[in-house]
Amino acid sequence: MTRKLIKSVINIENKEHEFIGEVSLLEQETWGKNDTLKIIGKEISRIDAVDKISGTASYTSDINLPGQLYGKFLRSPYPSAKILKIDLSKANALKGVKHILTYENTAKYKWYYETSFLLDPIVRYEGDEVAFVAAESEEIAEEALKLISIEYAKLPFVVDTEKASTEKNIKVHNWGNIVEPSEYKRGNIETGFADADFTIEDEFRTSVVLHNPTEPHCSVVNWDNDELVIYDSTQAVYQIRELAANALGIEQEKVRVIKKYMGGGFGSKLDLGKYTIAAAIVSRELKKPVKVVMDRKEQNLCVGNRPDSIQKFKVGIKKEGLLTALQLNSMGTVGAFPEGAGLSWPAKTMYKCPNLLVNEKSILTNAGAARAFRAPGHVQGIFGLESLMDECAAKLNMNPLEFRLKNYTEVDPVSNQPYTSKKLKEAYKKAADLIGWEDWKAAGSSKSVNRIGLGMASQIWWGGGGPPAHANIKLDKKGNITIYSGTQDLGTGTYTFIAMVASEVLQIPIERFNVVIGDTKLCPYAPVSGGSMTAPSVSPAVRDAAERLKEKLMDTAAILFDEEKNSIKYSNGFCVNSDGSKKVSLSEIAGHLNEQDLLIKGSRNENPKGYAINTFGAQFAKVEVDTLTGKVTVLKISASYDIGRVLNKLTLDNQIRGGIIMGLGYALMEERIIDENFGKVLTTNLHTYKIPTMMDIPEIVIEIASDYDPMISNTGVKGVGEPAIIPTAAAIANAVNNALGVRIKSLPITPDKVLIALYVSK
Ligand code: MOS
Repeated sequence: MTRKLIKSVINIENKEHEFIGEVSLLEQETWGKNDTLKIIGKEISRIDAVDKISGTASYTSDINLPGQLYGKFLRSPYPSAKILKIDLSKANALKGVKHILTYENTAKYKWYYETSFLLDPIVRYEGDEVAFVAAESEEIAEEALKLISIEYAKLPFVVDTEKASTEKNIKVHNWGNIVEPSEYKRGNIETGFADADFTIEDEFRTSVVLHNPTEPHCSVVNWDNDELVIYDSTQAVYQIRELAANALGIEQEKVRVIKKYMGGGFGSKLDLGKYTIAAAIVSRELKKPVKVVMDRKEQNLCVGNRPDSIQKFKVGIKKEGLLTALQLNSMGTVGAFPEGAGLSWPAKTMYKCPNLLVNEKSILTNAGAARAFRAPGHVQGIFGLESLMDECAAKLNMNPLEFRLKNYTEVDPVSNQPYTSKKLKEAYKKAADLIGWEDWKAAGSSKSVNRIGLGMASQIWWGGGGPPAHANIKLDKKGNITIYSGTQDLGTGTYTFIAMVASEVLQIPIERFNVVIGDTKLCPYAPVSGGSMTAPSVSPAVRDAAERLKEKLMDTAAILFDEEKNSIKYSNGFCVNSDGSKKVSLSEIAGHLNEQDLLIKGSRNENPKGYAINTFGAQFAKVEVDTLTGKVTVLKISASYDIGRVLNKLTLDNQIRGGIIMGLGYALMEERIIDENFGKVLTTNLHTYKIPTMMDIPEIVIEIASDYDPMISNTGVKGVGEPAIIPTAAAIANAVNNALGVRIKSLPITPDKVLIALYVSK
């Protein structure tokens, strides 16, 4: 039983993280083919399903602590202003108001953007935090907000991305509006274009979109003696512990972060909220719990978004279909605080193209700040790239799938390393068969009123996961088994796969396992649930722990039977001796424990060196476009993926369907709209900010192209949460083009854009 302490560099998304920590040596061989497994890969209902559908599941906003206060933010009505004067006298006089925070009494709390404080005298977007009221009820807190009088000096503002990028006089921060421009080069772009038979230049645009998870952002915070307990709706309990401790200037060990059930995050719940820290400050001062729940408007203004994009491409192609050069200049707005709006990873990695030149800019504007959003960058980038690839195919009179296969790469074009596994060809074939791709005809072949089109798009993402990720298994004297891991279930099925993995190893029903996650006090470290890393990082640690427990059980049985350990067999929760005459169950062995509990540690192994780990996939779309109204109806989406091993077929289906539905919203309706004259967001609720409803959801068919990844871990699992959304918008846009013979180059593809494009093309 060996583990080692390592210092290693792991690559998460495009950032390298160095860590020193414990990893498991890959002692257990990767599970073999799926059909050799009893539980893994099957359709298993969630172990928390009854809790959830019966309404007994406790989400963060369901938590109420005795004597708690309710917190509410006063937010700036202006996109840019300086606060001249704050008068709290009326608000403070309201019965039930307990405390009010402003920049004046919180000046020692710097925020983790260098340029701002928890509450800053400069407000930089509509919705920026101005004051925080804690009161005996939510209603009193809301009433108090109206009684605070603020004198603002309005400042000039800029909310348009392109305008902000060249604006000299209006700066969101003193240093300017452009955040770290980045460049990437490969080969020689000039030679590449010189080699081409054709070049195409085009521009694609996407809109800012909002996460809108079902459950709003919220925290319930309590200072218990000198320990700070934070119930938070978060994708990252350990990260919140670290960030909260830093923000408050206390030791991490004094902070406990807890999250049980959650109604989605999509990246917007990876960060620490100002609401959490404001609540903690008040809680510390008043020695009372404080609860803060964002409302839907705050959800749409203040807790993140996907940057928009303007993507300018130039591509060189040979007659036979090979890409010779690809140039991309892009920009996107990250709102009022530094973030990244880069989107070039698909262009860099999707195809074998020897010559590349990429320039990217993230632009500050006076609007809510961007945050990671389900496959950040890739969703925008694949829309541009895959629209462009269809244009290339059309130029060559080639089937779009054939064009992509011509440029298929067997090695990662950035690192030149082979992939641990890549089954994209298989995914293309399966998804093509499921949609009926043989019916594909050149764009615009029909002149009828309602036109049918077929389109496709590819996807690439990381999603290999990695260390550090731990899981502990505890066996008590009564034979109860509990698994602990500091991971999170965002609604994705984490509880269930953890029990399934342990059940597979120990060959006892999943009901036997109690799963405890999302608690920094009880659970060993596991990474944030982002980057599609949860299942690929945590499932191997759980298997590691379960295998080690099995070994211990067999060790113990050998002692009980007075036989050599290697003569003991393990089967369905029993240890059996060499001639089958003696048999002892897991629970009986537990009864022999001298200690009350046996605690076994499991860890994720390191990823293999010298390989690229990626997920791959494709979606194909069938649409109908009404040329009189401009309305696009998606009839069907087929999806096929290489995501390594499937842990649970039911939750896999949930993930992919959810991604496709979200991608459909991105393609056809979702868009944050800001009035440029006032710098105010017009889409602050789900009436004006359109998301898909049941009526918009097409037939969805899914087939997985991979069995397992043979190299990355003992479970061979890669992630699927983000891959699910990546190709949808591009596939739909390509299908719309196929139907009309006219391409819509900006998302969302709303009826007005369709009608204008049809009119202009006449
Ligand atoms: Mo994701 S955007 O890493 O939750």
